[in-house]
Amino acid sequence: MSLTSLPPAAPPTLLELWQHFNEPQFRYADLRKRFGALAPGRFDQQDHVMVLTAEGARDVFAADPAGYDAFFKDGFTSIAGPASLWTLTGAEHRRERQLFTPVVHASHLAKYTKIVHDITHTYLEEWQAGKNIKAFDTTRAISRDVIMRLVFGLEEGPLMEEGRKIMDELSHASNPLIVFVAQLQRSWFPPWRRYFRAKQRFGDWVNRILMERRLQPGETDDVIGNMLAARYEDGSPMQDNEIRDELITVLIGGHETTAAVLAWAMYELGRHPAILVKLQDELADSGAASDPAVAVKLPYLGAVCDETIRLHPILAECARVLTKPMDILGHTVAAGNVLIVSILGIHHDPALYPEPERFRPERFLERSYSRAEFLPFGGAHRRCLGAALSEYETRIALAEIVLHWDFETIGRDRDVRHGVPMGPKYGVPVRIKGRRS
Ligand code: HEM
Repeated sequence: MSLTSLPPAAPPTLLELWQHFNEPQFRYADLRKRFGALAPGRFDQQDHVMVLTAEGARDVFAADPAGYDAFFKDGFTSIAGPASLWTLTGAEHRRERQLFTPVVHASHLAKYTKIVHDITHTYLEEWQAGKNIKAFDTTRAISRDVIMRLVFGLEEGPLMEEGRKIMDELSHASNPLIVFVAQLQRSWFPPWRRYFRAKQRFGDWVNRILMERRLQPGETDDVIGNMLAARYEDGSPMQDNEIRDELITVLIGGHETTAAVLAWAMYELGRHPAILVKLQDELADSGAASDPAVAVKLPYLGAVCDETIRLHPILAECARVLTKPMDILGHTVAAGNVLIVSILGIHHDPALYPEPERFRPERFLERSYSRAEFLPFGGAHRRCLGAALSEYETRIALAEIVLHWDFETIGRDRDVRHGVPMGPKYGVPVRIKGRRS
């Protein structure tokens, strides 16, 4: 096949830019209509190529990682720090992932069942029949406490209380403008000042945890303990600043994201009573009420979770910067371009998912999708490190919710960018109908 160049990239109009941040699903549908599989674009004085089909994503994930730099390195360095996995490349990136992987590896997850189950149970005890709630408030609290326990080893006490407040502050300070417009990462911009203050408080809090841990060393099963015990190939330990940068990355990457999937699952189930009943029946028959670990293997629960994150992907895209030219789908893309794989666009591609706007878990039982077709966690050498943990947590927590409560969605909601991740604009308004016997 002879290779051709893509049409020249033009900067987005103000309307397109607004749409990119506020209604990205319409933006990607429009780009697909106009350009097909690959759409050229220009943002912040850099050329971009948006990849809108699974075939394109497959090419991006199959390419040699040495041909890529990290996306938006300067911006993410200010957000998370220079030692964050988001900004590292090459051997440093591989080395850091190797240190991290054992704690969140699928083979370790079974021991987290009770933790996730008990935390979920505690927050569900606050629900009352007949009350209207925002599901995202509950799911954020669940996901935050799971991170407190699994990452920081905290269960109760003043450090935990302080940590909860700091995580809430970081969540509320997160804003797409400060993430994606590096020029606004300045002290004169109030949202950046707010984020910077929250990040400093987070750093001080982590320093105190590290100090306590060093005073009372011992066996632990949490991420921070593993980081303290980890050694690089030359035998040296991780420095405190490296630990801090990784922890804030995990926090930003893992807290709101998992909470949003769980809230969207409640949204869709609360709008589709027949699907909710089918799921409740599967769970009741499985014995998950007495053994929560059973839930993670249930096919319909898995299909409901997959369909939720297909319809509402939490990261709308994943991106790489080309350091070498690349041939993709018959076109040559020059070095220096940013390749943006549109997770949202591919998940809503009608050729792959007929009636893409419809919530239909059965599609995941009727056929299997490849890693380039269903890609909520990105792919290849940068695929999300927390994917297995997040899927595990979502299944255990959702099983606990639907086993014990009936609920219905009471208003429309829609996906918007909160910061790096997307989430429900209105927090998923739900009415708690009653406790199930
Ligand atoms: C529903 C929940 C989550 C979603 C949708 C999600 C999605 C993603 C995506 C799309 C990427 C970029 C992948 C790429 O560039 O190919 C990513 C990276 C990452 N995620 Fe997640 N994530 C979730 C939960 C978590 C959790 C729970 C953690 C940690 C415990 C985590 C830690 C990370 C880290 C450290 C990276 C950077 C990996 C690297 O660059 O090597 N994520 N995630």
